[in-house]
Amino acid sequence: METVLPPPVMSLDHILPEEPLLMMGAGPVPIPHKVAYANSIVINHLGETMNRVIEQVKDMGRYVFQTVSGHVLGVAGPGSAAMEMAICNLVAPGAKVLCVCNGLFSRRMAEMATRVGGNVVIMDVPNNETAEPAAVEEYLKNGSFDVLTIVQGETSNTVWNRNVGAISQLANSYGCLTIVDAVCTLSTMPLEMDLWKIDAVITGGQKGLSSIPGVSLVAFSDKAWERIEHRDYKIAHWCLDAVLSNQFWNLKSYHYTAPVSGILALHEALRLVCDETLPLRFQRHEVCSKALQRGIESMGLELLVPEYARLNSVLGVVIPAGISPDLVRSHMSKVHRVEVSGAFGQSMVRIGQMGEQSRAHNLFKTLHALGASLKHSGAKIDLPSGIAELEKGLSQELANTFA
Ligand SMILES: Cc1ncc(COP(=O)(O)O)c(C=O)c1O
Repeated sequence: METVLPPPVMSLDHILPEEPLLMMGAGPVPIPHKVAYANSIVINHLGETMNRVIEQVKDMGRYVFQTVSGHVLGVAGPGSAAMEMAICNLVAPGAKVLCVCNGLFSRRMAEMATRVGGNVVIMDVPNNETAEPAAVEEYLKNGSFDVLTIVQGETSNTVWNRNVGAISQLANSYGCLTIVDAVCTLSTMPLEMDLWKIDAVITGGQKGLSSIPGVSLVAFSDKAWERIEHRDYKIAHWCLDAVLSNQFWNLKSYHYTAPVSGILALHEALRLVCDETLPLRFQRHEVCSKALQRGIESMGLELLVPEYARLNSVLGVVIPAGISPDLVRSHMSKVHRVEVSGAFGQSMVRIGQMGEQSRAHNLFKTLHALGASLKHSGAKIDLPSGIAELEKGLSQELANTFA
């Protein structure tokens, strides 16, 4: 047998850019210094210090989810792991699941529900439209569903399901549990878990919360927890079993070795949200996103989704015909040091407005980079007008920042 030798690798100093790129895509997003510092610390995952951290993470989680539920759990994994945790614990084999689908992530929930043996019905929402309660009710009326899945913000195509609250309440009135994916929206816009009668909310760290990717949160309602506690079968996922996870998150004992550094980072991210308060954070996101939208339109560009269904936390900007979105993104990255996202083959770029992305200085840099890179690619762009419009839209936010 051949001996395997150490490969000739380079240190990260040679791989990472000297000046970090400004992360203005669909996530991950820039993190505050306190979050980065917390992420550099390792402590014991069991014991008094961790217990105090966990208690605070749950309390702050209840605030951002707007719930008094005692069933807030962390997940060592991406937003998709939290999604899978909600689904594999609530969708029993043979359960009827209505999946409201507007794009990639809502379809991911449908895929996961199918994989755990759910009997899935897909309600397709037309492109660039929001899911309407009346259309959902048609399905609920005729289906006796056990679980409904829906995303609040469909990052993949920048659509906002603005009626998530009404849809969840409707599902509740039909005896159906609702799972809401708030991965890209949590703490950027209102979400009222208890008031809207949502049974499971999931989120990742790397978007609105401005934490690191890889540690996520899920909250279950009492009704959902009752179903979990009374199931008469074992779920196939050991790591994602909510009953086992409850050992660590509520009973201070061992499930698996928790991602301590990531939890500390999440703690700091949540603390910053609590310091800012949700109403002010929502306002900052709204002001920043609207200002950027007006700036983009004033440069002569089009936003993909009509205003009524448009997500504020990730914007889809249509790239004019004949110009390659990939070349624009690459120019933005190489020349202006700003990274935005592509759009799964569609002719647009996606610009994030989540957490630390929604800061005036980041918006100016991004809008300038977008306009200048499009001009470089030959598009007709009125860059000064875009920047002036952004300035106008942000003036209130800037006044608040320096007040
Ligand atoms: C709405 C939404 N749901 C789920 C996910 C999946 O999260 P992750 O990539 O952390 O697994 C994402 C990620 O972009 C998302 O935007």
